[in-house]
Amino acid sequence: MQQTILIIGACGQIGTELTLLLREQHGADAVIASDIRQGNDGLMDSGPFEILDATDYDALEEVVAYYGVDTVYLMAAMLSATAEKFPERAWDLNMNSLFNVLNLGKEKKVDRIFWPSSIAVFGPNTPKTKTPQHTIMEPSTVYGISKQSGERWCEYYFEKYGVDVRSIRYPGLVSWKTMPGGGTTDYAVEIYHEALSKGSYDCFLDSDTELPMMFMEDAIRATLTLMDTASEHIKIRSSYNLAAMSFTPSDIVKSIQKKLPDFTVSYTSDSRQKIADSWPNSIDDSFARNDWGWAPEYDLERTTKEMLQNLR
Ligand SMILES: NC(=O)c1ccc[n+]([C@@H]2O[C@H](COP(=O)([O-])OP(=O)(O)OC[C@H]3O[C@@H](n4cnc5c(N)ncnc54)[C@H](O)[C@@H]3O)[C@@H](O)[C@H]2O)c1
Repeated sequence: MQQTILIIGACGQIGTELTLLLREQHGADAVIASDIRQGNDGLMDSGPFEILDATDYDALEEVVAYYGVDTVYLMAAMLSATAEKFPERAWDLNMNSLFNVLNLGKEKKVDRIFWPSSIAVFGPNTPKTKTPQHTIMEPSTVYGISKQSGERWCEYYFEKYGVDVRSIRYPGLVSWKTMPGGGTTDYAVEIYHEALSKGSYDCFLDSDTELPMMFMEDAIRATLTLMDTASEHIKIRSSYNLAAMSFTPSDIVKSIQKKLPDFTVSYTSDSRQKIADSWPNSIDDSFARNDWGWAPEYDLERTTKEMLQNLR
C-alpha cells in the first residue's frame, strides 16, 4: 500500500539520511520532510519540505491533512549534552512533540508512528554489560528522563488507544552525511573529520569509556525493518534495545591509525564524561532479533573504512 510519510526534525543527523532513503523507496513526493530550519542541499533538493514546529499541534495537524499523511517519523528532540544546559526547554520539546504525534494517532489522523528512544533511558544503577531489555531504569540526565517518560507514554497510548507506535533505543550513531546534534557520543563522528583535516583530535571522553555504538546505515535499516513488520509481531511498544558494536575512544583511535598511522589523540574529558559513565557498555538486543529479525552489518573496522572513504 502506498504510504504518505512525514518526517519531523528531518534536517538532523538521522532525519537527513532517513528522508533520502525513504524517498528512494517510496518516491520523492510521498515523503514530506519538515524541520524548524532548512537542511543541507541534498535534502532540500530531493523533495517536498515544510517549516514545521513539532510543539505546535495545529500546524502539525494542518500539514498531515494537507498531504494526507498516514505515517510519521518524529526525529525532533534536544539531545543529551545540550539538554543538560537547557533542562526545561529539553523537557518541553521532547515531551510535547511526542504528545502531539501520539494524539494525532489517538485521533486516527495518522496510522503509524516511529519515535526514537535512546540508551540514555538507562542509568547508573542499570547492569552495564549486555544491558537487558527489561531492567532497572533510573536515568540521571534530563534527556534520559524525557526518553524514559516517552517510552511509558508510547506503551500507554498503544494499550489504551490502540496507537500503532514503534520505537528503538538507538545507541550512539556514527555517520558522515550530517554532523551530530549535541549528544554524548558526538566524539565518534568528530574524530574522523579531524583525523582527516588536522591529523589530531582532542577527545572529550576518557580513552577507556566503552559505549554501545552503531553505523548510521544499520540504524536506518533497523528503523525501516521495524516499521515494515506486521503489527502483531511487535511485542514491545515501549522501545526495543538495539545493538551493533561497543567501543572506547582508544579502540576507534587504533582503528583509524591502521589507515592513518600518523594520527594522534589527546584526552580532555568534560561534562559529557559523567553522562557517558551513567550509560551501559553494551546492550542485549535479543528481543529485536527474535521479534523482527534484527542483525547488524557494520563493526568498527567497517565503520572506519566507510567514514574515511566518504569523508575524503
Ligand atoms: N544521533 C544519535 O546518536 C541518537 C542516539 C539515540 C537517540 N537519538 C534520537 O534520535 C532522534 C533524532 O536524533 P538526531 O541525532 O537526528 O538529532 P539532531 O539534533 O541531529 O536533529 C534533530 C532535528 O530536530 C530539529 N528540531 C529541533 N526542534 C524542533 C522543533 N520544535 N520542531 C521541529 N524540528 C525541530 C532540529 O532542527 C534538528 O534538525 C532524537 O529523538 C534523538 O534523541 C539519536
